Amino acid sequence: MGRLIISGGRPLEGEIKIQGAKNAVLPILAAAILTDEKCVINNCPALRDVDKTILILRDLGCEAIKNGSVITVDGSGIRDCRICENLMCEMRSSIIFLGAILTRCRRANVSMPGGCPIGLRPIDLHLKALRKLGVEITEEHGYINCRADRLRGADIHLDFPSVGATENIMLSAVCADGETVISNAAREPEIVDLAVFLRSMGARITGAGSSVIRITGVKKLHGAQHTVMPDRIVAATYLAAGAVTGGDITLIGADKTHMDAMLDVLSEMGAQFEFGENTIRIKPLEEIKSVHILRTMPYPGFPTDIQSPFMTVAALARGTSIFVENIFENRFRHVDELVRMGADIRVSGRCAVIRGVDRLYGAHVRARELRGGAALVLAGLAAHGETIVENTEYIDRGYECIEKYLSECGADIHKEA
Ligand code: UD1
Repeated sequence: MGRLIISGGRPLEGEIKIQGAKNAVLPILAAAILTDEKCVINNCPALRDVDKTILILRDLGCEAIKNGSVITVDGSGIRDCRICENLMCEMRSSIIFLGAILTRCRRANVSMPGGCPIGLRPIDLHLKALRKLGVEITEEHGYINCRADRLRGADIHLDFPSVGATENIMLSAVCADGETVISNAAREPEIVDLAVFLRSMGARITGAGSSVIRITGVKKLHGAQHTVMPDRIVAATYLAAGAVTGGDITLIGADKTHMDAMLDVLSEMGAQFEFGENTIRIKPLEEIKSVHILRTMPYPGFPTDIQSPFMTVAALARGTSIFVENIFENRFRHVDELVRMGADIRVSGRCAVIRGVDRLYGAHVRARELRGGAALVLAGLAAHGETIVENTEYIDRGYECIEKYLSECGADIHKEA
């Protein structure tokens, strides 16, 4: 397990080029197996989860070649319809392969995500939707076996606008017989990016980005090229790094239109921005203000993924902020570590009350998941003294070379294996 060593207290200054979005590239790589022609995906971030996805593709019999940020997938040799338990457990989001494998092979076999040690993350909405599309599902020895000699379009209402379930339905419906209508669909920009790629492969999809997505099945999809959208969560994390250090950071290649909820909260905290074409500059901030109440919500609401990095900003604000986590019940795991660094945070159920303090202090802390790990890095950048963040593997799942980008902006940060 790697560790990051940070000597805090330096205002960051400089430019950061924003990587391609992790949550967009994973379903897009899954979509690439829907055709037996070659697909070329540009702007893929250098992340562990992307490497794992390449392993899944190869395991299925596809050729997947990574050359810098370009991944070429040739699905013509697909021969397996099973994702092994190890890969499934290491990367829960591999469940989005289910729909793609079914479309391609009419069978799919994946291990139950519930069998993994990282807690329950249900897939009931995915399975209910697949059944509506005509998939027979049985569960056996910890595996989910899916079979659909024919996929049929259907009207599917999601009880909750799940991102993964919406993607799985799209991947299962693109070549189904007839029309599929997803209502209460997730509206995240990553859904739109997937739809853009699928359309460039010949799929007929309208409404992505709204609550109703219509898909008319086509017989066959063809190869295509795509450039992955910028990562809005990574972009907001670096803006937060600017805010907590009183720094002056310009993001290059960020898409402001995906970031309204996050920019609104930072503005409420006193941040001022300058927007250019694909650039966002956060100006030096002298004092951080508290946020009255921040609630995580499905898009276009405030994203759960940036809740923990923004908690570090709130920890240094003047006044008290309240954060309510509505999406995942277990997303306050960074709080104990922030408290060890001097933050004043109380958690009760899904609510956290954050009383801003003047200063955080360096400490030896442990990342327990991806975004909570990023929150600790931000705290380390702002803190007095040295911070060691253990378990950087979690952070590497979502942030490409975080220590490199931050040190290029003047942070005193390095990684030890
Ligand atoms: C995706 C993102 C993740 C982000 C999340 C919410 C990827 C790879 N991951 O995860 O970073 O935090 O969206 O924006 O894109 N749920 C059910 N049953 C289901 C599916 C989901 O109850 O079948 C619940 C979940 O427990 C959770 C909520 O719905 O409470 C949201 O989950 P979902 O939108 O599906 O998140 P993911 O697609 O897993």
